[in-house]
Amino acid sequence: MTRTGTRGLTGSALALALLLPSAMPAAATQSSLQPAGWDDQIRLSEAVDLNDDPHIVEITLEARVDTVTIAPGVDIDAWTYNGTIPGPLIRARVGDRVIVHYTNNLPRPSTVHWHGIRVPIEMDGVPGYSQPPVEVGGSFTYDFIVPDAGTFWCHPHVMSAAQVGFGLYGAFVVDDPEEDLGIADELVIVLSDIDADENGTLRSPDTGGSLGMVFGREGNWVLVNGRHQPSLTARSGAPQRWRIINAAKSRYFMLDLGPGHMFRKIGGDGGLTEYSEDHDFLLLGAGERADVLVTPTGDPGKSLMLRSALHDRGFGSTEYRDIEDLVPITVSDLPPYAAGPLPDTTRDITPYSTEGATAVDLTLTLTQDPRDRSFEYRINGQPGWTTTPVLAALGDVQLWTVENTTKWSHPLHLHGFFFLVLDEHDEPVRPLEWKDTVDIPFEKTRRLLVRFDERPGTWIFHCHILDHAEGGMLSAVQLGLPASAFTPLAVH
Ligand code: C2O
Ligand code: CU
Repeated sequence: MTRTGTRGLTGSALALALLLPSAMPAAATQSSLQPAGWDDQIRLSEAVDLNDDPHIVEITLEARVDTVTIAPGVDIDAWTYNGTIPGPLIRARVGDRVIVHYTNNLPRPSTVHWHGIRVPIEMDGVPGYSQPPVEVGGSFTYDFIVPDAGTFWCHPHVMSAAQVGFGLYGAFVVDDPEEDLGIADELVIVLSDIDADENGTLRSPDTGGSLGMVFGREGNWVLVNGRHQPSLTARSGAPQRWRIINAAKSRYFMLDLGPGHMFRKIGGDGGLTEYSEDHDFLLLGAGERADVLVTPTGDPGKSLMLRSALHDRGFGSTEYRDIEDLVPITVSDLPPYAAGPLPDTTRDITPYSTEGATAVDLTLTLTQDPRDRSFEYRINGQPGWTTTPVLAALGDVQLWTVENTTKWSHPLHLHGFFFLVLDEHDEPVRPLEWKDTVDIPFEKTRRLLVRFDERPGTWIFHCHILDHAEGGMLSAVQLGLPASAFTPLAVH
């Protein structure tokens, strides 16, 4: 390792860096099977790495209002990272140090939260609990090691329903150099929506008042990598890898590629799953991710459609709604590619034992104030701004029982830690998957097994329907710190 290779690395980063091969990953052996320009409408721009150290990714991220084109003739003054929605794709290798020089040129304070990445608390981006909000015109340097491979994302944690809804989110992929599926054609797909009128003017984030909050506001324009219905050209028979992120502030996506097409799910929130599994439909609640292999097939000129089918996420969520067309896919006139069967992936995941785990019961409720009739979501009887935290010691394993008594589903997200979801017999759901966000369907109970590692701090958890978080459905884990060191804050 050269001198520049060790410059500025912390001890643990250095230890990780030394474990990694210094050459480029073997994954580059395959070359694209797709026709030229196949993904022009959909490919994300990538953040520029300013650091020539191969183990450091150093980028600048400016949050600013900028004009984006979401459909032909529809320009929106959106809230962006570096002028685009989504922001630039951040890509690193597992064990890398990532340095983000962040500047806030928005009209409001903001932060960046690295959703799913196991960062130290000071880097978690939650105003008050992990850092002061970055004021208008201010800057902050995020600096952390990425310890896990997988598909992650970033977004603000100040007025998050409004700021995410206006366009602030970006994909963050951490590659494992050891992993080689032999599939060169990869897309990172960020699903979202934005609420704007025909002239491209953003609508108020408060439409519908308290009832709008209860439902969780969805934008009228459904976006795929910031565009409404961008198209893709695909060579029949050639496999593709799609890393999909649901960055919408409320909307669920129930992905469907039509008859004869399956999604081979190889990974989820926290990297590869225990083994791959084929699915006709892929459900992603707000905040969740999936890593899938797909093989479009058909005669040249034939069209396929990636759609989002209706999904019942609670009262009023399927009435007067349509299936959404997301990505029209045209089969190119290249001769069909005769690929072998799609690879089966596996990963060793050892579940923690539920024995000896500390039981934590969480009840999700909705209450209405009899005086002004306004609604509030609560966890164990309290909204986020008066909540009592869950206490945990460093290294604790906890068994969470989350009961959703409300008429709406809630994708619950825990900051900083992965968990396993248990089935009705208290066995981990197979294939095992490290999750950081899990759908708790309306009027259902889910059990989760989580181990809190050696990163003390106040780690929040909340519904990733961001209106619900703002409406009170947020609490925190006080890890390795006394309860007396906790002050509830109005974070969302
Ligand atoms: Cu993406 Cu607090 O979450
Ligand atoms: Cu919710």
